[in-house]
Amino acid sequence: MLFRSLDQRLLPKTETYLRLENAIDVANAISQMVVRGAPAIGITAAYGVALSAINHVSSLNWKSAIDKDIECLSKARPTAINLHWALEEMRKVIANTSKKNLIDTLCAKATKIHNDDIEANLTMGKLGAELILPGSSVLTHCNAGALATGGYGTALGVIRSAWRDGKIKQVYADETRPWMQGSRLTAWELIKDGIPTTLIADGAAAHLMKTKKIDWVIVGSDRIAANGDVANKIGTYSLAVNARYHDVKFMVVAPTSTIDNRTLNGDLIPIEERSSNELLKFNGQLITVDNAEAWNPVFDIVPINLVDVIVTETGCKYFSNRS
Ligand code: MRU
Repeated sequence: MLFRSLDQRLLPKTETYLRLENAIDVANAISQMVVRGAPAIGITAAYGVALSAINHVSSLNWKSAIDKDIECLSKARPTAINLHWALEEMRKVIANTSKKNLIDTLCAKATKIHNDDIEANLTMGKLGAELILPGSSVLTHCNAGALATGGYGTALGVIRSAWRDGKIKQVYADETRPWMQGSRLTAWELIKDGIPTTLIADGAAAHLMKTKKIDWVIVGSDRIAANGDVANKIGTYSLAVNARYHDVKFMVVAPTSTIDNRTLNGDLIPIEERSSNELLKFNGQLITVDNAEAWNPVFDIVPINLVDVIVTETGCKYFSNRS
């Protein structure tokens, strides 16, 4: 199996594919943001387990070598539950497959996880688009598109389907500091599809809601707790607060592999904190004073009472909690 991953760090300027030879390469690609977005992280990790089997199955201690690789993959990023979900699926295959059939069965399972995610996106796209009225303007955050999933996208899948149905007047995309997933990736995807897209600075969202008619905020998620609280890219919480204040509806679009029933509420979801250098530097150049400190949590939690609807591939769940 040849496994190549588009290096999302270089988009939109360069489309370069990195060859990943083993599970450690895959874990590094995930932690270093070559591949990102919760469902895409899970899918990539599943292929990582298949690579691990290819590399180790003929060795004496193949079982513990694969276990070690899975352990390493599981630590690549902490918030996206899709990573743990996919690894659990691969573990089940390992437990129930003979050594002789292991490589083929793991490769087939990783491909199935990938294809099922695309299928789920198409279903969510249709379900979410049904909620959008013609002439709508929407705001999205980070990148929850084809790049972040098996293909098509969660939040961007809904936007794509609604655009196809003639319902979208305008998409606004937060640039999404510090990795600029909005300006580098979301704009890249939507403009390629001919969907009218306007970038805004993250701090412009409240002003946008106050001065333009925004109908929906539509976002993806890295993990949804058992009570419905939603983890997503830092800044999503502030969008949800602002949306409620300005009477803008708030839609979360995520496959069921993002739901974590073992975590009771959002406060218990681990929030990834990345290097302060991601804030202190831009393209390797210091953009603040020497010795400045920075705090860089990269996800936040939207409490369920600020969410109007969660769309999964199994249907829409509505929350009628507006006062
Ligand atoms: O740090 P990232 O780029 O992996 O964060 C991605 C997000 O926050 C997405 O909104 C989320 O994973 C949903 S992707 C369908």
